[in-house]
Amino acid sequence: MLAEQIRKQFGTPVYIFDEIGLLNRLEEFQSVSTSIYDNCIIAVSYKTNPTRALLAKLHHRGAYAEVVSGDELEIAKSLDVPFEEIIFNGPAKTDRALRLAILSGCFVNCDHEDEIDRIEKIAIQENVIAKIGIRLFFPSGENWERFGFAVSSNDAPCLAMRVVQRVAESTHLQLSGLHTHIGTNIRTVETFSSLGNSMADFAAKVVRNFDVELEWIDLGGGYASLPPLASENRDALYPMPSIQEYCESILSPMLPWLRGCRTPPKVFFEPGRTLFNPFGAMLMSVMGRRPVDSNGVESLILDAGITSISFTQKYNLPVRVFSDLGESRDFRLLGPTCMEHDILRPAVKLPALVPGDLLMIYCIGCYGMSLASPFTHFRHGMIGWGEGSDVHWLRKPDNVTHSSQLDVVN
Ligand SMILES: Cc1ncc(COP(=O)(O)O)c(C=O)c1O
Repeated sequence: MLAEQIRKQFGTPVYIFDEIGLLNRLEEFQSVSTSIYDNCIIAVSYKTNPTRALLAKLHHRGAYAEVVSGDELEIAKSLDVPFEEIIFNGPAKTDRALRLAILSGCFVNCDHEDEIDRIEKIAIQENVIAKIGIRLFFPSGENWERFGFAVSSNDAPCLAMRVVQRVAESTHLQLSGLHTHIGTNIRTVETFSSLGNSMADFAAKVVRNFDVELEWIDLGGGYASLPPLASENRDALYPMPSIQEYCESILSPMLPWLRGCRTPPKVFFEPGRTLFNPFGAMLMSVMGRRPVDSNGVESLILDAGITSISFTQKYNLPVRVFSDLGESRDFRLLGPTCMEHDILRPAVKLPALVPGDLLMIYCIGCYGMSLASPFTHFRHGMIGWGEGSDVHWLRKPDNVTHSSQLDVVN
């Protein structure tokens, strides 16, 4: 049994990543998007999974980097990603990171007006013309609205157009891109058609009114993964969301405008969830049991909990066991941290497991690792599952040496 071999070789708890699944998903994204519009580029959303071993493989296959902080920019640099293949987003970029990004040719998308003012100041100091993109949002009641500039759905004046004007009037700024990211875990492809329409409409107005050439259109991420939300009261996973449907829905409404441009802009996608999530899992061991409590629920105590898979309470994440142990009944899954709320699943149907049995929670490849915190336990390791039964470390577990390296104990 592979799970048992993994435990012997690597111990538990351990994150597991299906590398082939991830790389195939990227390749599908690249081939489908470019078959519709050949200037499409897939940029990996670092915050959703900043595991360097995985990022290196994705970059090797042509993925750009999408970073949202100076620290993530450093990670991309450390992986030798060329600056011209880094998209720099995020609402709180430091002057230092902005200066580096502007001078070295990253694609910088601005979130708010103060940031644009700061970039202009840097450009004046450095005597350059800074190319920038601006982040937009299209108010709909559902789209995220706390980042970027509002676009109105009609011809009424809107903040986004005023910002375009402000940039166009600057001698040290050049509007070169439009960006948006409308939300996450979105299943309805109609939402993306609507985004494609709104983006093409706004881009056309910008080009017409200000005689600029847009170098990039960045459509963000947002596409769904497999697990249902806990609030949906559903355990069955959704089918793998179709890249073809997604790309067609978002690109089709944009094609007439894109094809009419003097120089066809690059079109960026920044997937996180739909790229990583289905392919990450955690293998863990049952440490002990608690008998039926006053609510009538039996519990299993596991060696990993909510600090290892932080969003577990938001989704009904699938759980797998490795032996056929008879009839299933409801179990509560408790984590190891000695915190009252460390509950991985309040109720999930499982056979009667005993200490030492293995259990796997999957669909955690996005945010599972990046939001994990080393609370009460050192950070767990991650292994990659490659061709056949090739299993290898992607990141070794932290230990007391790593953990104490930066402490200053006098
Ligand atoms: C700017 C930006 N791009 C891409 C992503 C990735 O989004 P998703 O994981 O929903 O694909 C995010 C996540 O919030 C984001 O903020």
